[in-house]
Order: sequence, then C-alpha cells, then structure tokens
Amino acid sequence: MTIPSSDAFVFFGATGDLAYKKIFPALQAMTKRGELEMPVIGVGRSEWSGGKLRARARDSLEHNGGVDKEAFEKLSARMEYVSGDYGDPATYEGLKTMLGGAKRPLHYLAIPPSLFGPVVRGLAKAGCAKDARVVVEKPFGRDLASAQALNRELHEVFDEAAIFRIDHYLGKEAVQNLQYFRFANSFLDPIWNRHYVDNIQITMAEKFGVQGRGAFYEEVGAIRDVVQNHLLQVIALLAMDPPTGHDAESMRAEKLRLFRAMRPLDPKEVVRGQFRGYLDEEGVPKDSKVETFAALRLHIDTWRWAGVPFYIRTGKNLPITATEVRVGLKCPPLATFDDISPATANYFRFRLSPEVVISTGARVKSPGEEMRGQPVELVARHQTRGDQEPYERLLHDAIEGDASLFTRDDTVEAAWRVVDPMLGDVPPPEPYEPGSWGPEAAHRVISGKQGWHDPKPEEAPPC
Ligand code: BG6
Repeated sequence: MTIPSSDAFVFFGATGDLAYKKIFPALQAMTKRGELEMPVIGVGRSEWSGGKLRARARDSLEHNGGVDKEAFEKLSARMEYVSGDYGDPATYEGLKTMLGGAKRPLHYLAIPPSLFGPVVRGLAKAGCAKDARVVVEKPFGRDLASAQALNRELHEVFDEAAIFRIDHYLGKEAVQNLQYFRFANSFLDPIWNRHYVDNIQITMAEKFGVQGRGAFYEEVGAIRDVVQNHLLQVIALLAMDPPTGHDAESMRAEKLRLFRAMRPLDPKEVVRGQFRGYLDEEGVPKDSKVETFAALRLHIDTWRWAGVPFYIRTGKNLPITATEVRVGLKCPPLATFDDISPATANYFRFRLSPEVVISTGARVKSPGEEMRGQPVELVARHQTRGDQEPYERLLHDAIEGDASLFTRDDTVEAAWRVVDPMLGDVPPPEPYEPGSWGPEAAHRVISGKQGWHDPKPEEAPPC
C-alpha cells in the first residue's frame, strides 16, 4: 500500500529558537532537493506577517549554513505566516483559510509539550486534522505519567499511525550507520552478546554550558534532556535483536522488546552532577537541584545481554564536544604475551558526533625483540560530518509517511519507565568544575577494571 505524501507543511513555533537554528536550514535543503513542493505555513504567537517570517528565515540561513539563492527564492515564495494564540479558535480558522486546497497537511509542533493538547484540539475543531499528520518535538512529557497523559491527548484527535515523535538523534548519519553496520555485517552476529562483549559505554560530552537556556534547562536536566531519548535510543539500536521484516513496524517491534527489557535505573547506580556556575545562569534558582551531568549503569535483562553493563555518561561543560559509543570486548582467556585488561582489549568504536567514525581497536606487536603489543585502530568509516542534517531526513520521512525513525507511543513510555526512578525527589547533584569530566563520583558507577574512555579529538586516519 502506498502512503500518500503530505501536501502542506505547517510548523507551530515558527518564531522560536529551534526553527531559527535547525528548521529553516532543513526547509531550504529540502526545497533544493525538490522534496518540499507545497505550501509552508509558519504559526506563532508573535504578531508577525509573512514578510517578517521570510526575513527571519533569511537571517537564520545567513547564520546557519548560508542562503542558497535559488532554493531560498522558491521556499520564500511558498512561505506564509499565521499569528494567534494557540487556545483561540480564530488561529485555526486563519490556518484553515491559508491551507486553501491542501488535503493532507503535516503539522509540526516545535512547541512545549503542554501546548500539544490545545493545539491538536484546535486543529480538530477547525477541520485541519482530517487526513493530516502531526510531528511532535521532544521532550515528550516529564515522566511516565505525563507521557501517558500526552499520548491520550494526541490520540483523542490522531491515530497512532499519524503521530510522529521526533528524536533528532535518530536522523543523524552516524546513528543510521551504526544501525546499518550492525545488521549488514555477519561477522558481528556471533560476538554481539554476553559471551564476547565485556561492557558497552556511551559518552555524550558537550564543551559548552546551557548557552543562555537556563530557564529551559531547569525544566529538564541531563536525564530528561538527552538520556531518556537520544542515549537510550542509541542503546536500543546497539542492543536490539535484528528485525524480522523490512518495514517500520518490524524495526519498532524489536526496539520495543529491548526497551521493555531495560531495568529501571537504580539510584545507587546513578551519579548526578552540576557544573560550578550553573546557579548563576539566568533563569536558574539559587537552590536548583537540576543535573547538568549524569553517569549511570544500565542493565538489559535478555539472554543476549544478561550481566553486560551498559554505561551512559553525559554532561555540559565537559572537556570536548563529542558523542562516542565503545563496545568493549572481553580479554583473551590467557595472557600468552603481555597482560591485556578490559580497558586495553579489542573494541568497536562508533563516533556519532561531530564526526562519523566506525573503527575496531586491535593489538599488534610493537617492533623489537620483545613480544609486547601496542593498540591500533582499523578504521571502517571516517567522515568529518554527515551529508544530510537530521531534520532534513526526519521531516522528509514524516512528509512521506515513513515512521521508521520516529518513536511509537509504547516505546516512549517504556523509555520513561527506565528513567522514572531518577526523576522527582532525588538528592542534590554533586558539583564539578567546568572543563572537567564531571564529579569524581562518576567513577563509582563503572567497574575499576573497565573505566571510562574519554572521547579524544578525532584525527583523520593516515591515507
Ligand atoms: C538536544 C538537547 O536535544 O540535543 C541539547 O536539548 C543538546 O541540550 C542537543 O545540546 C545535542 O544535539 P546535537 O545534535 O547538537 O549533538
């Protein structure tokens, strides 16, 4: 069955930060590829005109990747703006008029989750929800209960098949490549389990702080902001069983099984940190207990992964901006030559950001008389960046009705169930110095033999 493409692109939150940094550049790139031959309607609360939105789009492009004259002209000729309060029926009547003859609009909600309910109800009342799709931004709720409530609100108006929950990490080229590498290489199949894998760790480090977004960050903290979504999604791709079919639902079914096998976090295996200076950020109360750093150990209760620790570490104001996965293999059973520890044994390394790298860590003999070794990396892929930005890929997929890279209602709830024990009333975070690898206590969650592997600046491999 062919799924019809959307025939209008509506984006709520058009005047916001996300639109400025990511959405306008994605829309220009999609126009350039011929993937956005439809009206593009921005909706926002500010009293702007179509002209003001187009000026904002140009300014956004000038600061984020550059204006492509031809593509921008096409895009701006299609771009219009509707202003109004999201609780006011007149806003949706205005949108309906603007949609004209479009029959299958896609509504992208780049707005806080508390507004999802009022907006979808407004769309439904005005007749703008029929045969439409809705794309919703993260965070999808604050905890399990609020995510369940949001799902109920969305389902009042849209079938699950018409709801696309975005997680931009899933649109990253490197994350796609990780998924491809796993299921396209049969040599991985026999070793991708508890018999050969010693531990898996993922570090998402950011060199910058909260960049003036203190008030936003206060609502989330590292666990809600990136662990519940981006990092658990990456773990799911690393650990899930191969899907049994080629369609989106087969992939989503395996992912769900994996999420359901993740044990809810044990507060004893989580360390939360806060960088010194966070309390002086604008919008942050002086007694804030919000974490800007988290390190944790996760367990997956399946036969494949029983006993294999999964470690996650993320933080703001760390020494580098890089996201890296390291799948550490077990040591050889006997030390024939030099001693090999879990920290120096073979591994697979997936650099997910900012570069795209896949490599295998091996050992070779060092030149000389002695039978002593040294580490080398066999590089399978080294790219400075992906050729398509995540939002281009994801918004195009949503227009085409391809849900493979979007999170289903049951999966998003399963992910909240994992982190729920760490939300709410938790002890204060431990302070750490900006530019450090977080509080000392982060070493508590990882076995001393394995240790954290800090991502390093990526060097291009020798040709
Ligand atoms: C966002 C978080 O979802 O992801 C930010 O809200 C974070 O806090 C960002 O900085 C990281 O994404 P990327 O693609 O820039 O690595």
